[in-house]
Amino acid sequence: MAAESIPESMYMLNSGSSQVEHDRLNVQHHLFNDIMQGHLLPPHIISALDAQPTPPKILEMATGSAIWLTEVAKTLPAEAELVGLDYDTSRFPPPSSLPPNIKLGKGDMYEPFSSDLLGNFDVVHVRMILFGVKEGRGPEVARNLLTLLKPGGYLVWVETGPVLLHGLVTTIEPPSLAWFKFQQASWRFAKKVGSDLNLPNATLSYIKEVGCIECDDKAYPGSAVLYTDKGKDWIAQTNSNFTAFFEPTLRGIVSLGGVEGLTTDADVDEVIALADQEFGNRKIHYMLLRAWGKKPATS
Ligand SMILES: C[S@@+](CC[C@H](N)C(=O)[O-])C[C@H]1O[C@@H](n2cnc3c(N)ncnc32)[C@H](O)[C@@H]1O
Repeated sequence: MAAESIPESMYMLNSGSSQVEHDRLNVQHHLFNDIMQGHLLPPHIISALDAQPTPPKILEMATGSAIWLTEVAKTLPAEAELVGLDYDTSRFPPPSSLPPNIKLGKGDMYEPFSSDLLGNFDVVHVRMILFGVKEGRGPEVARNLLTLLKPGGYLVWVETGPVLLHGLVTTIEPPSLAWFKFQQASWRFAKKVGSDLNLPNATLSYIKEVGCIECDDKAYPGSAVLYTDKGKDWIAQTNSNFTAFFEPTLRGIVSLGGVEGLTTDADVDEVIALADQEFGNRKIHYMLLRAWGKKPATS
């Protein structure tokens, strides 16, 4: 899908300010990283990269602001080669702000990739694409990503279900009407545009279905951070990041035609005003799920 067609797409977080979305993704990365105990990749994959004789080559699909790649680069030798692709390049940071071993470019996870990328990477990472995955097409995305891997390379796929959608129960404590309205609009939108409602729970099965071996997944409960040294500010940070997600999601849904009960910006204003009253210090519970698999040495 070309960038020009994004307004007609199902992905609702590209309709607001690029800078605001870039900043939201960067803050979100650090929350995710705390939830995942600082492991940017599964530890056994980091060990495999450390043990190989050549510098790692890593590609991130749907890289957004390239924050994950930027943080991974800090942990790898300068000779490592890092590539980020996204079908919307508007949130990429300026190349001058990136280390020279990160290259960003345009790429669509449903389209064939340019031949110089094929079979070239030790790891392909993808995170939070569930709003862009269409019903019945998860395995197709996994199969396409696999073409980028060397034999023996790893596919790593991270998702969360930020609302009561996609098979993961996310809750707010105590309950909130604004939250319910958000879930309802998100659910209606997902049904309207034909999102894959089996994500994130189906991620592992998609990776297995396309022939990967040594596949597994791990769930990370967000609220576990409350009991660590990062716990003090956790509620405020998650609430503020969720609020930053809440409004652009609802406005994006309206900009893509709306759903019953949410068709105008005034409808969005009403839900936002309710959220402002309600969210305060409530605890938001969600989970991150990371699945991985290895491309067989021969296929
Ligand atoms: C929620 S953002 C996550 C960004 C980044 N992976 C992260 O975790 O910080 C989802 C990204 O998926 C991209 N995306 C959605 N559909 C896509 C597609 N068909 N091909 C490539 N990128 C896509 C969006 O442009 C957006 O940058």
